Parts: sequence; structure tokens; C-alpha cells
Amino acid sequence: MITRIPYLLSCLALASSAQGAHISRRGYTPQAESYIVHQFPNPTWVENIAIRQTGQLLVTLLSAPDLYLIDPISASVHPNSTQGATLVHSFAPLSALLGITETEPDHFYVVASSSPDYAPGTFSVVSVDLSFYDPAKNPDIVTKEVAAFPNAGLLNGMATLDAFKGMVIIADSIDGVIYILDVNTGESRILLQEPEMAVPAGGQLGVNGVKVLPIADTDKVFVYFDNTDASLLCRVPVSLLTLEKVGPVEILQSGYSADDFALDLAGGFVYMADGNTNSINRIPLAGGKVVTVLGGINDTLVEGPTSVAVGRGATNEFVKYITTDGGLLAPINGSTEGGRVVAMII
Ligand SMILES: *[C@@H]1O[C@H](CO)[C@@H](O)[C@H](O)[C@H]1NC(C)=O
Ligand SMILES: *[C@@H]1O[C@H](CO)[C@@H](O)[C@H](O)[C@H]1NC(C)=O
Ligand SMILES: *[C@@H]1O[C@H](CO)[C@@H](O)[C@H](O)[C@H]1NC(C)=O
Repeated sequence: MITRIPYLLSCLALASSAQGAHISRRGYTPQAESYIVHQFPNPTWVENIAIRQTGQLLVTLLSAPDLYLIDPISASVHPNSTQGATLVHSFAPLSALLGITETEPDHFYVVASSSPDYAPGTFSVVSVDLSFYDPAKNPDIVTKEVAAFPNAGLLNGMATLDAFKGMVIIADSIDGVIYILDVNTGESRILLQEPEMAVPAGGQLGVNGVKVLPIADTDKVFVYFDNTDASLLCRVPVSLLTLEKVGPVEILQSGYSADDFALDLAGGFVYMADGNTNSINRIPLAGGKVVTVLGGINDTLVEGPTSVAVGRGATNEFVKYITTDGGLLAPINGSTEGGRVVAMII
């Protein structure tokens, strides 16, 4: 989740004066087991996450233009050690990274901004090819700008719509639209513009996360999206043949805010990172009761959760990985800590 710069700057100032990180549980009993995989120095805003086929985690930072690789099994042995996270690439002179998605194996696309306050008109999508990446033997990666979005307000969450065609979708949290981008040609257009995506009156962020669920035995998918300040989770069917919407928006829940979220296809749930309550909430894929499975309003375990991803490869889908901003957006009791990656077993 990201906010406007004056608030972020005041939070960063606050962060630099905070005395260490707080990891006490403050008496809240979570329903899921969890452990810290890695904690970055304070202040670090960890913004989004993708998981390689190996099970290794790729995380983007909003507070720096940096992409990190984390092996969740080895890193969690010493979660505070800087050795737990390997800098894959710094995209300087860009300033901040946001959503990330994979199309072909080890071909990732990342939303970037060239301004530290992620101002409108500063966004682009860059590619990251990790096919030949080896931190020890071949640390250089191939990266390039795929497309610039001079007209976008605030590009945020990203997902792969059609891996075969190289089509990805990207939420614009200020303009309240979802773009479609052909990563092979760099061409983009607005795919979806719905009232449920707009910034609500008095709010700052509309549509934030986007994810894609195939609809079995059809050429259609559900595009899931949330709206942070309207506290909505919705889905809308889209045809992969016509690349157009083919049905109305369905509101799956209203009342729980979310930054980004993950679809757990095997388990049948959506896991939402709720920065307003420092919680992870889940809801069945087709809608239903919302249950808090981790964290709580005064719980620093996932302080300022920003995104969730479902385990792959060496781990499995019972492990969900959560990134946090360490309270930079909304510090618990006035104090921040380094952004974290937390594993939740559920
Ligand atoms: C990690 O750092 C936090 C905050 O500085 C500290 O409370 C905690 O004890 C550290 N954990 C380990 C295993 O050193
Ligand atoms: C959270 O902390 C605040 C400030 O200390 C307190 O007023 C509030 O009652 C707490 N909420 C819960 C649910 O513990
Ligand atoms: C907030 O911080 C104060 C001072 O350190 C402490 O007494 C209080 O228990 C804290 N409240 C919460 C909800 O953690």
C-alpha cells in the first residue's frame, strides 16, 4: 500500500527516530502458525512478492528501487541477518518498485516509478530475466524497460492475464482502472474501468491488487481486484479470446480493506493483506465469511502488511508469504520496524 509523499516522509522521519524493532506479540493469539523469514533494516518498505518455481522469493521494495531474492528456508534460520536477502538488481536511477508478476518461468515484470513519491506520470514496467541468474557465478541479470505509462496515476499491483500471449494486467490506484500490457510489444490500453475501482470520496487509493483465476473448461478468467479505500474485494469475468470484459463485476466482500492479496487455488481462499488492521484476512474464492487468520490491530507480527503470495516449489501451497512496510504507513503505537517477510502455515 502506498500513500502520498508528505505522510510517507513524516513516517520515515518517525521511523529513523524509532528505537529498534518491536516483535512482541502484545497478547494477540493468531489462528495460523507463523515465523519470520527475513527482516530488512528499519526503515524498509517491502511492497510486493513473487515466488520462483524453485520456491525462492522475489521481493520488491518501495523505499528503494531494489529487487531482492530470499531463500525462505535458509533465510529463516537467521531472519535478521543481511545475508538472508540477496540484492538481485537495483534499478537506480528509478526510485521505487511495486507490483511483480511472472509470465514464462523466470521471466518477471515489475512496476517501477522514477520518483521517490511515485507521482503520476513516473511509472514504467521493466523486465527481469532470471533464467541464467546465479548469485555466485552469474550475478548479472538481463533487464530492460518494456513500456512507459506517462498517463498513469499510480501503477500498483500486477498479474499475468495470459502467459502464452505475454499479457499482463496492472492496477492504477489513482485513476481507478486496470491496464492490459503486451510485454512482447510494449503496447498497453485500459482493459477495465469500473465504479468499484475508483478512489472513493475522501480516499486516496482505489483499485490496488489484481489477480487472475482461470475458469475451468472455458476461455475465460476471473480478474480479482480489491479497492483499498472503498474496502472492497471484487471479481469480473474477462475473455482471453477477445481480451474484453464478458460479465458484470461481482462484489465478494465489502468492509475489509486490503492492500494486495493472493489467490490460493488449492485451498480455495483469497488471502488479503489488511494494512488498516495489521492483519491477514481470508475469504472463500467465491465469496463468503471473512476470517482474520493472522495479526491484529496492535500486533507487530505483520506490521503494515502489503502483499501475500502462496508457496511453490521447495515449499508448498500450505505456506503463505507476507510482506510488510514495517509500519511506515501507519506505525503501531508510534513505532516502526524493518519491513519483513513472514511465513504463515495454513
Ligand atoms: C531480531 O531483531 C529484533 C529487533 O532488533 C530483535 O528484537 C530480535 O531479538 C532479533 N532476533 C534475533 C534472532 O536476533
Ligand atoms: C490498540 O492500542 C490502542 C492504543 O494503545 C488502544 O487504544 C486499543 O484499545 C488497542 N486495541 C486493541 C484491539 O487491543
Ligand atoms: C504503547 O507504548 C507505550 C509506551 O511504550 C506502552 O506503555 C503501551 O503498552 C503500548 N501500547 C500498545 C498497545 O502496545
